[in-house]
Amino acid sequence: MKKFLIAGNWKMNKLASEALDFCKELAAQNLTNAKDVAVLVPFTDLKETKEGLAGSGIGFGAQNVHFEESGAFTGEVSVPMLKEIGVDYCVVGHSERREYFAETDETVNKKLIALLNAGITPILCVGESLEVREQGGEQTFVAGQILADFAGIPASEAAKIVVAYEPIWAIGTGKTATPEQAEEMCAFIRGVLSGNYDNATGDSILILYGGSMKPSNAKELLEKPDINGGLIGGASLKIDDFTAIANAAAELG
Ligand code: 13P
Repeated sequence: MKKFLIAGNWKMNKLASEALDFCKELAAQNLTNAKDVAVLVPFTDLKETKEGLAGSGIGFGAQNVHFEESGAFTGEVSVPMLKEIGVDYCVVGHSERREYFAETDETVNKKLIALLNAGITPILCVGESLEVREQGGEQTFVAGQILADFAGIPASEAAKIVVAYEPIWAIGTGKTATPEQAEEMCAFIRGVLSGNYDNATGDSILILYGGSMKPSNAKELLEKPDINGGLIGGASLKIDDFTAIANAAAELG
């Protein structure tokens, strides 16, 4: 049976008070697949998110982290800080961080290793720009990101990383990749991972699709064989939409 993860990336949205209300409401939905659902929230919302979700089985996490344990890094948050709060997940290498905050494959790799060492599940984002796709270079580009980001990580640890394929041209644009485009790249990523490690590792890694996923297109994306779920931005901010996407996965699971 295919494994799923439906993860909402709130980005820079929701005050802590709003997070508490939202998470209580989400917990009250009694999702049948609660353990396959998570929300990824601003640092300031983590405590209220945990409180609101308590006992629901729904996971939660952060959207970024620093790779050093502590030190003179003004404005940053470390893995032990996240660990103490009890996060399940942390997003790494989102295209918005790569574009606006100088995230590189090298820092992504260090963050993945730091999170794995602490037992926090990383959600690694990869994906090409429109320019790269129009030139037909999307597979080369994404394979390059995957190989650089997983560098030096052994198979036993690599299997714990969740990969999210998020084509930049589909993020927040309302322009979803077709299920065929999304499946093609997710299958390609699985092949790259199988080649780099082995088939068992490639098969066990969860690969999500992200980019304008919403209730109206979730089912057709989620039923593709190499798509294990979604990383959802805009639609994760609304209880009804997020719940509908989680339910679509539950029906396929
Ligand atoms: P949207 O669902 O708003 O397109 O965002 C996708 C995304 O970037 C999730 O990380």
